[in-house]
Amino acid sequence: MPDNETTAPSLENLLHETRAFPPGPAFAAQANAQPSLYEEAAADRLGFWAAQARELVTWSTPFTQTLDWSDAPVARWFADGKLNAAYNAVDRHVEAGLGDRVALHFEGEPGDTRAVTYADLQREVSRAANALTALGVTTGDRVVVYLPMLVESVVAMLACARIGAPHSVVFGGFSADALRSRIADAEAKLVITADGGYRRGAPSALKPAVDEALAPKDGQPATTVEHVLVVRRTGQEVDWTEGRDVWWHDAVEHADAFHEPVQVDAEHPLFILYTSGTTGKPKGILHTTGGYLTQAAYTHKFVFDLKAESDVYWCTADIGWVTGHSYVVYGPLTNGATQVIYEGTPDTPHRGRWWELVEKYQVSILYTAPTAIRTCMKWGEDIPAGFDLSSLRVLGSVGEPINPEAWMWYRRVIGGDTAPIVDTWWQTETGGIMISPLPGVTATKPGSAQVALPGIVADVVDDEAHSVPDGGGGYLVLSEPWPAMLRGIWGDLQRFKDTYWSRFEGLYFAGDGAKKDEDGDIWLLGRVDDVMNVSGHRLSTTEIESALVSHEVVAEAAVVGAADETTGQAVVAFVILRGEHADRASTPEGAQEVQAELRNHVAKEIGPIAKPRRILVVPELPKTRSGKIMRRLLRDVAENRTVGDATTLADSSVMDLISAGLASTK
Ligand code: WT7
Repeated sequence: MPDNETTAPSLENLLHETRAFPPGPAFAAQANAQPSLYEEAAADRLGFWAAQARELVTWSTPFTQTLDWSDAPVARWFADGKLNAAYNAVDRHVEAGLGDRVALHFEGEPGDTRAVTYADLQREVSRAANALTALGVTTGDRVVVYLPMLVESVVAMLACARIGAPHSVVFGGFSADALRSRIADAEAKLVITADGGYRRGAPSALKPAVDEALAPKDGQPATTVEHVLVVRRTGQEVDWTEGRDVWWHDAVEHADAFHEPVQVDAEHPLFILYTSGTTGKPKGILHTTGGYLTQAAYTHKFVFDLKAESDVYWCTADIGWVTGHSYVVYGPLTNGATQVIYEGTPDTPHRGRWWELVEKYQVSILYTAPTAIRTCMKWGEDIPAGFDLSSLRVLGSVGEPINPEAWMWYRRVIGGDTAPIVDTWWQTETGGIMISPLPGVTATKPGSAQVALPGIVADVVDDEAHSVPDGGGGYLVLSEPWPAMLRGIWGDLQRFKDTYWSRFEGLYFAGDGAKKDEDGDIWLLGRVDDVMNVSGHRLSTTEIESALVSHEVVAEAAVVGAADETTGQAVVAFVILRGEHADRASTPEGAQEVQAELRNHVAKEIGPIAKPRRILVVPELPKTRSGKIMRRLLRDVAENRTVGDATTLADSSVMDLISAGLASTK
């Protein structure tokens, strides 16, 4: 297939895929995972997890209980044990004589580099922990981290973990408003940010968003934030609030390089991470320490076949997402890995930047998202062909279903036709990988995440919660508790129960559609709720709808995710304008102006990633008699298909009105 013939990630072709790639014997012989791992876990699931927890994690107080499920659905794992996540990620490697091993190869977008050893990391994290303490942060206080991909970002997260202050990382691409609501929900005491970061060849400011998020706003309670710690990255001008703002270098560089980690209970909160749900309000997903760390380390070791002494690992995710938490910070560092972190975009200063980094650092394990792979396909295979990628031996994919064409391209062009691909299914809520092939064991299939990992129990069920037979389709569920599972939604236990545990009795409802093939392997088919997946980022239709209706010209809005060749899905919005503004959109120029205004408004309310690709002004929205918007019909319009069955609409002529209106404005 010519490399520029990127096909849309159609789920149709997933259903006709039959290729399989058995592991090579040489790889299998050296692999961390052996087929017996499944048997061991199946024979004694809890014993298996307890063994992983003892082997991969160091406990200051060993646990004696594995799982307490008596307060289901809130699990307690290893509950009578004590540990510190930062000690596990850093200090113990130094104590084991590995202080000189590089933990982080940092590459800034402008080309500046820094190699940070485990011994360096121990000093930096200790200093930062002392600095946080000096600023009044104590065990249990929440700290918001709003940073680009820098060494300091990893240090900041680990410093929080070191003192037992749960961090809440907010992706640097989120707006001031999004930051404000997350700070408020978590009642954070401190924010760690930077003046800015480098993005596409230019400094991009961050600090102004923090200033705006903390500024008094009518009707909203005063912020709980006492201090803002500011990393100097770009050197750009920043506004300064005396008494509140503190430079990172002033606070951290002069702090003591010794700090005694605070040993916390296994169930002590490690972090909160906000993610979009089906309502307008993001959910603060809560993760605790012992179980989370165990599963992060276990999955990182077996799914990526990590050999800490020889591999160079690179996960391209930002720390603002759960992938950055589990597979940049906690998994790899707990395992003592050497990894690359990169500040910028893949096309700066040229479209071969990633491959140049693979060659430069001899990256052997690469973990990225299908959207990035499809973008590279579009750019053409001659770009990666210009670099030596022969160091790569394991390739990972995460964030959305990977279409077989992208999978095959990844294998052939990036993996030299030999590196196994692990398509890893999981969620912010699951904390760690749940469904994935094991390299060296599983015969991989393009487009399928295939099998629950040893220790994990997943199934596909129908509407009545019955397990579907091989060949059948339905909803993905997790049937048994797992160590890294979320412990709740911050401050909202009821929402936790309603969202995940009310659909099917006793089963965790993931929100994904799935099918089993004839071998019983699982194929993920995308979300079945009002959650979209744009470039592997989760966005809520409702959240974008509420952003749109908060603009004065909009009366009503409906948002759908339409299939997109590169980003998986794209946001398409249908809006009804308020009477007095309806005329504005009657000319093409007027419509364009309104659309631009609304796009910017969404960027301001949520962040640029949520900007609708298309905004269509319509006279009506299709609703059922009970008033529910039938997004399925709008998706047909957005994907240029014939509109499906509209007979359950309260007014069946609405779709004709919409289609006619759009045809006339084309
Ligand atoms: C949703 C979770 C897990 C880290 C990144 C996203 C989709 C994730 C896959 C995959 C098919 C996938 C699901 C899931 N998803 N990985 N390998 N195959 N779909 O985390 O933002 O919490 O989103 O991403 O729909 O529910 P997240």
